[in-house]
Amino acid sequence: MTRVSSKRLVALGADHAGFPLKDVLKADLAEGGYEVLDLGTNSHESADYPDFGKAVAEAVASGRADLGVVVCGTGIGISIAANRNPGVRAALCHSGLEARLAREHNDANVLALGARIIGVESARDALHAFLNTDFAGGRHTGRVAKLSTH
Ligand code: RB5
Repeated sequence: MTRVSSKRLVALGADHAGFPLKDVLKADLAEGGYEVLDLGTNSHESADYPDFGKAVAEAVASGRADLGVVVCGTGIGISIAANRNPGVRAALCHSGLEARLAREHNDANVLALGARIIGVESARDALHAFLNTDFAGGRHTGRVAKLSTH
């Protein structure tokens, strides 16, 4: 994975269902020259997805990380958890197309993936698109602003 984005530090978080995929993506990120903040979990032992969604959300919202990636079995629970932070726009994606549009239209700052739903290559494709697409601005700017004010 070649880094063409200006985003440098990516926070990662997963529960037990997501951690093997998280580690695949972590290796891709390291290979691509990104700094990684791995907030766990790092074993198959049962772990609660809200804890890791919250940790990644706080890292992104505080500016400690530029972007975040969260993984659980479906991606649903951990995306809900991350989106409880008002500074986060987490997008649950199953493809590179969704990830690209989540950045372009929604200025998503956290990518959520379901390790039990999509294959590894689709996840890698989504991550690559997410990292290498910028927010398009323009007509999307006011809409994204409304996500914080409504
Ligand atoms: C864990 O069994 C599972 O519930 C979790 O990974 C996630 O899919 C929740 O949304």
